[in-house]
Amino acid sequence: MKRKIKILYVSAEISPYASAGGLGEVGKSFPTALLNYEDMEVRRVMPLYKRIDRKLKYLTDFSVPMDNEYDTCVLKTDPECKDIITYFIGNDRYFYRDNIYAYEDDGLRFYFFCRAIIEMLKNIKYKPDIVHTNDWHTGFLPLLLKKEFPSIKTVYTIHNISYHGFIPPSYLEKYVSEEEAGRLGYPQWLNFMKAGIIYSDLLTTVSPGYKGEIVQPEYSYGMSELIAGRAGPMVGILNGIDTESYNPKLDGVLTYPYDMKSLEQKKKNRTLLRLEYGLPDTEIPLIAMVTRLDYTKGIDILIKSISHSDLNTFQLIILGSGNPYYQGILESIAEGYSGIMVFESNYSATLAKKIYAAADIYLMPSLFEPCGLGQLYAMRYGAVPIVNPVGGLKDTVLDIKKYPERACGFYMENWTVEALTIAIKQAVNAYHFADWNKLIVNGMKYNASWNTSVAKYRKYYEKLIMNLMK
Ligand code: GLC
Repeated sequence: MKRKIKILYVSAEISPYASAGGLGEVGKSFPTALLNYEDMEVRRVMPLYKRIDRKLKYLTDFSVPMDNEYDTCVLKTDPECKDIITYFIGNDRYFYRDNIYAYEDDGLRFYFFCRAIIEMLKNIKYKPDIVHTNDWHTGFLPLLLKKEFPSIKTVYTIHNISYHGFIPPSYLEKYVSEEEAGRLGYPQWLNFMKAGIIYSDLLTTVSPGYKGEIVQPEYSYGMSELIAGRAGPMVGILNGIDTESYNPKLDGVLTYPYDMKSLEQKKKNRTLLRLEYGLPDTEIPLIAMVTRLDYTKGIDILIKSISHSDLNTFQLIILGSGNPYYQGILESIAEGYSGIMVFESNYSATLAKKIYAAADIYLMPSLFEPCGLGQLYAMRYGAVPIVNPVGGLKDTVLDIKKYPERACGFYMENWTVEALTIAIKQAVNAYHFADWNKLIVNGMKYNASWNTSVAKYRKYYEKLIMNLMK
């Protein structure tokens, strides 16, 4: 048999251990999908956060050089996770905290994560062919690997180019020349995102649309020159989803399972959810949004749009957490519109699935969206998305005006309150007058599985190993 390709997948989030959104979902579904190829051996590594409260197995510990001192890493694995060995990088000072992110020393915390992975590779009997890193938290790994394990190839995938991460230059003095440090941000702070872009052997992002955007200075958060300066191109490969667990017929969650041939069952799920949340069961559409409460997800424009909309014509349910400021506003609006609007902040994947199943229309008015998973889940459950056509949203949702036959959703004309209000109105009208089921079925037919994308990644992995990347 051919030798297996050994991939170490590195991420700050892997669901269900710890996840703040799409990065964590992909940390679960993508490595699992890689295993469909017999010649792939996949392992994963993530930080051991406080919230990971399951029984892990102690493997070893070792010291990790940081600036002028050493910290200790306790390395553990999950004995329950047999298909994919998953390592946890433990250090209470950095990771035993209530949240995953948003601490002043996030730069140091994730520099420790990167540096500890280097020491892990020195301490355990395992050497990957490729280390696949993700987003800024892992950005210094391609650099450190180049210096310490030059034969290991690296992939850096950008899930969101707007977050960068910084550390003081002294941490990398041993590794980089003054000129290199300059490219990373010296004499100020050194930038994780820059390091990932400069030092990785292959640079990817999560949709062709987003790739097209972030090579342009206006959308690149200062990274476009570095991307253009790389020897090889950046590739945009669409994310997939776990189509087995997100399947309205077989997810084991819905009281009334359905597929595109039994859409009358979908309505029964809507009735149930309405009952649960005190919404009258009438023939107006239920609009839903499952989201992180963040400016870039379009929460501000949605809040304003609510006051410009005719709330006799639809109901709205928002499942969201994140910024407490938005949480407060949404709670008080929902209180004022009881029987019309619901705001729920307790996320669970089960509740999210019930909402996708109950929803007629799904909102994704993002300012930018590298790939977006919500629209894919929604389409799979027959909820018709309204999107701002950017990044992966443009690649996955076809607009009713542009593609009357194949359409599965509605585009906003701009990222404004007015455009969102108009798009909602159009969708609500179409729900009553257009061939609504056709939109639903077109969306349900969209192939959101990982198959095609995993095949693409695998080709690139092979090229990397055979030194064919230019
Ligand atoms: C980030 C992006 C989102 C993408 C996800 C997974 O959360 O904002 O668009 O789907 O990463 O790649």
